[in-house]
Amino acid sequence: MRIDIVTLFPEMFEGVLGHSILRIAKEKYLVQYNLFNIREYADNRRCVDDRPYGGGPGMVIKPEPVFNAIEAIGQQAGIHSKKILLTPQGHRFNQSIAKELAREPYLMLICGHYEGFDERIRMGLDAFELSIGDYVLSGGEIPAMVVIDAVVRLIPGVLGDLDSVVNESFNGDLLEHPQYTRPAEYRGMKVPEVLISGHHQKIKEWQKEHAMKRTRERRPDLIE
Ligand code: ADE
Repeated sequence: MRIDIVTLFPEMFEGVLGHSILRIAKEKYLVQYNLFNIREYADNRRCVDDRPYGGGPGMVIKPEPVFNAIEAIGQQAGIHSKKILLTPQGHRFNQSIAKELAREPYLMLICGHYEGFDERIRMGLDAFELSIGDYVLSGGEIPAMVVIDAVVRLIPGVLGDLDSVVNESFNGDLLEHPQYTRPAEYRGMKVPEVLISGHHQKIKEWQKEHAMKRTRERRPDLIE
C-alpha cells in the first residue's frame, strides 16, 4: 500500500511512522509512506492561509496550495488514490472503515489545520471525509496517524500472528476477553484455573463467555 500524507506539519509524523508496527510494515515493504508539505506548493510568499470571508476568528487554508499539492502528487504517482480528508465534520471512523481502507492500494490523507479548509477544497476534491470522534483537535495530523495505525496493522503480513487480528476487540463485534501472562499469581490475584489447564476446548469456551460478559457490561450497544 502507498500512503501519501498532505500536511503543513510533516515532522509530526516522523516519530509515529518510525516506530513499532508502522515501522516494521515499512521495513517489510508492505507499505510506503510519503510526506508532502502543503507550504511547498504555495505561491512565492509560501502563504497557505488567509482570513475568512465574512469575518470570524482564525485562518482558513486556501484552496490553491492544496490543489497544487494533490495534482502534483497524483501526476508523480501515476495511479488513482483514495482521498481522505480529516475533519471533525466527517463520517465517524471505526473498525469496519479501517478494514475497507486496508484493501486499498493507495491512500492519500489530507490534513487540515487552524480554523478549517476553504469549502472549495471539500467541493473539488471528491474526498471521503473522516472524523475520529466528536471532539475538535487542532489539526488533522493526529487523526491521520490514528487512521494509518488502524489500517496498516490490518494489511496481511504486517502482524506476524494472523490470529491476533482475527481474535481482537471489535472484529467479531465483541470486546476482547481478558488476557493474562506469567506469573500465575500476582499480589494475590490469580489467573483463572481453566487458562492454565491446557484444555483447549474449555479455554475457547471461557474466552467466548468472557468476551460476551465484558461486552454486555461495557458496551451493550455492540450487542444490540
Ligand atoms: N480535525 C480536527 N478535529 C478532528 C477530528 N476529531 N477528526 C478528524 N479530523 C479532525
